[in-house]
Amino acid sequence: MAEVVIVENRSVAGALVADEIVRLIDTIPEPVLGLATGSTPLPVYEALRERLDGHDVSHLRGFALDEYVGIDPAHPESYRSVITREVIEPLGLDPELVRVPNGAVETIEHAGDDYEKAIADAGGVDLQILGIGTDGHIGFNEPGSSFASSTRIKTLTQQTREDNARFFDSIHDVPQHCITQGLGTILRARHLVLLAFGEGKADAVAAALEGPVSAMVPASAVQLHAHVTVVLDEAAASKLRLADYYRYTYANKPAWQGL
Ligand code: PGA
Repeated sequence: MAEVVIVENRSVAGALVADEIVRLIDTIPEPVLGLATGSTPLPVYEALRERLDGHDVSHLRGFALDEYVGIDPAHPESYRSVITREVIEPLGLDPELVRVPNGAVETIEHAGDDYEKAIADAGGVDLQILGIGTDGHIGFNEPGSSFASSTRIKTLTQQTREDNARFFDSIHDVPQHCITQGLGTILRARHLVLLAFGEGKADAVAAALEGPVSAMVPASAVQLHAHVTVVLDEAAASKLRLADYYRYTYANKPAWQGL
């Protein structure tokens, strides 16, 4: 089962995950990081910024989970722009080594296959950062997504468009389509690290971790993966039936066992 770590706040969560990423950067010759956008991973990127001084990141590759289709890559809310602003620039990564799915309409027919090939050519993702949507999505895999899916076009639900409207002038500006790594793609990463904060995520987290494995809750796919770490604040963990067991397990974790 997933290791569930319940922490005091977002910055403790960010520090925990950033420490593991620094360990990967220092120990793996060509580390590959799976990047997420949205509010959730920001504490990880902030903590990384504080820790990367003196570490060689010139060889660090990154693959973002998703992108809007038809959005101008220069738009401030394209995920290409978000990843540049929040990850590439502050962490000093080589932009050539950080990929975001290509949402251009002209090449969309083969953009998914191109992306899968690029991930495979890089040797696969070592650690995939994940947020979770209020409807249980990971990446932009909305309810009903196949657990075997690869990078492809999806239609965003109205719920997701409403959730993301805060980044745009109005909900009408939120694109209707996206290109996202599939659940199958995500499950091929060697270590999944899912973070969630706040009461609004509590139902989705409980359904994903303790409910049935179901395409209706795409994040429940993590139950099929052998190495998953879930980092939550108290509010996001508040609907978990086994919360006390997770706390007990983490408090008694052997020192030799990494994240
Ligand atoms: P959030 O989004 O991190 O902005 O809450 C998570 C998601 O939709 O996957």
